[in-house]
Amino acid sequence: MTKPATGSKLESASAVHTRLQEELTARAQDETLRTIRNIIPISAREVRIDGKQLINFASNDYLGLSRHPELIERCRQAIDSYGAGTTSSRLVSGNIDLYERIEARLVALKGSEAALVFPSGFQLNATVLQALAGSETCFALDRLCHASIIAGTTRSSLHWFRFAHNDVQDLERKLTTAARRMGKRSPKDIEQWIVTESVFSMDGDQAPIDDLEALSARTGSCLYIDEAHATGVFGDHGMGLCHHKQTSGPAFFISMGTFGKGLGSFGAYIACPKIVKDYLINKCPGLIYSTALPPAVLAAIDAALDLVPAMKAERRRLLNTASYLRSQLQSMGYQTGASTTQIIPILVSSPGQALALSKHLEERGILVPAIRPPTVPARSCRLRISLSAAHTDSDVERLCEAIKTWRM
Ligand SMILES: Cc1ncc(COP(=O)(O)O)c(C=O)c1O
Repeated sequence: MTKPATGSKLESASAVHTRLQEELTARAQDETLRTIRNIIPISAREVRIDGKQLINFASNDYLGLSRHPELIERCRQAIDSYGAGTTSSRLVSGNIDLYERIEARLVALKGSEAALVFPSGFQLNATVLQALAGSETCFALDRLCHASIIAGTTRSSLHWFRFAHNDVQDLERKLTTAARRMGKRSPKDIEQWIVTESVFSMDGDQAPIDDLEALSARTGSCLYIDEAHATGVFGDHGMGLCHHKQTSGPAFFISMGTFGKGLGSFGAYIACPKIVKDYLINKCPGLIYSTALPPAVLAAIDAALDLVPAMKAERRRLLNTASYLRSQLQSMGYQTGASTTQIIPILVSSPGQALALSKHLEERGILVPAIRPPTVPARSCRLRISLSAAHTDSDVERLCEAIKTWRM
């Protein structure tokens, strides 16, 4: 066998290097280059960065559960009993008994026929939607859907479209157009999935769930709702904005939620009809070909599910703080978009402005990340404030004071 000439190997390596460098340079030029920083968590509301203590308005620890003594103790006990890892897929020997307990609890709390736990929310959205796609499936995505949903749909089906954000009329029009393009008379003649988020991750606004449910009934569509940012915060027992739709909603109604945000640890789940669970155990690569969650994480999920239903006071406090902060920001002249939740954007005009405001706050002991393209559209750069029930009133006052001293 002849070896490839070293020269050509070097040439192709240098072509790759050049391409990657060009991408990074372009990002740096339009102030959208991303880097990662070394962070030392101090509590549910504080971190240390570069030796400086900051109030953390960047995490999704909405109820402060990441530091709850019960979660931490249950993690310790699980490590003592089960060890550090599960070391294989759930389909091999990783399906330790905590899974059954958690899924039974989810079924009871969500009122669904079945539930299935996954290693992460990204993995879940990216591979569940992919697995559900048949050759004639059409996905209708809200324009602001999360990257994991885009990953799960746009490459797994030839038929997909995006509808204007939260615009049910636009969705209905586009469903009809999609059906015609697929050679059918009406949306009822095709298999379609309407996919959206109940609380939008970057805008903190809510989907019109009831209208989407009515439309899916009219058009025979299946409905898939991502409750990543509603889980823990909204709904009876903190189980999201559409927990009650599991029984009243369309025949194929799936909601997903995550354990890594409001529930303080890691992982994700879907609540779904039993046939969907059985199908995914056979067909979903993100479940089949991935190591099961570590015992400590499963124990933390189990503990959070014990605590969250009763955390009504924390939920109320969180949402009251959010409406107070929104009114303060608006009275200072800032735009907070359509936020009605614990996620509050401060909209600014450019990536540079977002970076400068974030830096201004950091110099005053406050961490709020700048969100820039491609995470959000070019003209809607922002700071994304993420509130937690763990924040004190004085944390929020400090944030307001620091913002007041900013001059655009
Ligand atoms: C709306 C939404 N869905 C899914 C995910 C992915 O969840 P995970 O962090 O568990 O991978 C995120 C994470 O940011 C999200 O915001």
